Amino acid sequence: MTDPRHPLDPVLMRVSLEVNGDLHVLEVDTRVTLLDALRETLHLTGTKKGCDHGQCGACTVLVNGVRINSCLSLAVMHEGDTVTTIEGLGSPGALHPMQAAFLHRDGFQCGYCTPGQICSAIAVLDEIRAGVPSHASGDLTGAFTPDTAEIKERMSGNICRCGAYSNIADAIADVLEAKA
Ligand code: FES
Ligand code: FES
Repeated sequence: MTDPRHPLDPVLMRVSLEVNGDLHVLEVDTRVTLLDALRETLHLTGTKKGCDHGQCGACTVLVNGVRINSCLSLAVMHEGDTVTTIEGLGSPGALHPMQAAFLHRDGFQCGYCTPGQICSAIAVLDEIRAGVPSHASGDLTGAFTPDTAEIKERMSGNICRCGAYSNIADAIADVLEAKA
């Protein structure tokens, strides 16, 4: 018997995700990105869509503690994963230290890139603490100084059309220093 489906018909698949501490079981088209599942299905619109092809970092979220561009990852690839978006980091009355530092340093203008910048910045500090070198590290096998050049290099995948880069780097340096 021939398969009556058209090759372009959607194929639905079930995926279980923990998002910001809540378990969700979603039935999604296998072509849906994690970004679209977060925004369109779970209505977590804090995570932004800029370029939709891995160039701007606006869609950065943490998956199992590691930063990824959620526009480049299919939702169905994340069975059992733990996802943290900007909504899961803090609340207006109890900001995450990185959110508070961005506010204090005025690390944004329009704010469109900010959720991705903050998620990325949190992962950057974890990478520095874990001793993961970057392209700016003087010694790829030994200790490196987490200076401004390190922070800027590690944040280079997050574009800010408003050009708030200096203040963003200052905010990240503040949190890095406070936790040193
Ligand atoms: Fe994902 Fe630009 S929207 S990198
Ligand atoms: Fe406007 Fe970064 S604050 S794009």
